[in-house]
Amino acid sequence: MKIHHLLGATAILALGTLGAMAQGYPTKPITVVVPFAAGGPTDVIARIVGEHMSKTLGQPLIVENVAGAGGTTGQARVAKAAPDGYTIGMGHMGTLGASPGLYPNLTYDPQKDFQPIGLAAGTPIVIVTRKDLPVKDFKEFMDYAKKNEKTINQAHAGSGSVSHITCILLHEMLKIDPNSIPYRGTGPAVTDLIGGKVDYICDQIVSVSSQVKGGTIRGLAIATPERSPALADVPTTKEAGLPAYQVSAWNALVAPKGVPADVMKKLSDALIAAVTDPATKKKLEDLGGVVPDAKGASPEALAALIKSENDRWVPLLKAKVKP
Ligand code: MLT
Repeated sequence: MKIHHLLGATAILALGTLGAMAQGYPTKPITVVVPFAAGGPTDVIARIVGEHMSKTLGQPLIVENVAGAGGTTGQARVAKAAPDGYTIGMGHMGTLGASPGLYPNLTYDPQKDFQPIGLAAGTPIVIVTRKDLPVKDFKEFMDYAKKNEKTINQAHAGSGSVSHITCILLHEMLKIDPNSIPYRGTGPAVTDLIGGKVDYICDQIVSVSSQVKGGTIRGLAIATPERSPALADVPTTKEAGLPAYQVSAWNALVAPKGVPADVMKKLSDALIAAVTDPATKKKLEDLGGVVPDAKGASPEALAALIKSENDRWVPLLKAKVKP
């Protein structure tokens, strides 16, 4: 047999194996890499959405927290995983949108190294402070931050994380450059905010709304045009005196490049089933998440979002943050 016939036969065999693998998929648990610590917004959203996806797919979705380098360590793990549908990742506006603007040697390209599964939730940004920071409202906070620029501490989830880049925008508007303390996620950062060890965070609403309502931290302003029903007492930045500060983040599931199309379809259908399930949607909305409809959670919509976020954040961050 000639060599090209042999190669052809091998290729057909390989395709046959992939097809068979996709048919029975999933036959074992699926790992969802969360590139931040437990208890933060990415973890919270992955667990809520994953719980419903497990029911649709008939296999558990197991969260693995792989934190570090503003989420890029875990996101890179997903890019390099075997493209068999058994390792996927919950990325976000930082790891998939902004990170190429801050990490010149990033080992993945958000647009080329992943296949989009879909958007899980939008997450408005809330400026939260320790409860005894001596300010009455957001206006006083802005004055306090300007006067105490050298001593005030902002906590964030590492370079390129949402809490980092959204506070960069805030600081630029206030013309301040305060101390910043990186954590492996805003889960542990909020624990230290509750304990009074840090002064404030620009965090995604889903992991702070319960604490704000419980009074363990304070929510000073939400950076969206309208108040969130989940935190109805927290004024918008427009009401609170900084209308130009408008920013919302998002969380989305991606798979490594090369996952067979029928496996991708099972994953994206399961995500759409999760976000359109009334009980799952309510869980996310109760925390302040903005839940997409089926079209908004489609792989096509996510591909477009990642591209537009790269176009928005990468030049902006390259210009603002000098290495
Ligand atoms: C987290 O899950 O800890 C956050 O999404 C971190 C961030 O990007 O601020």
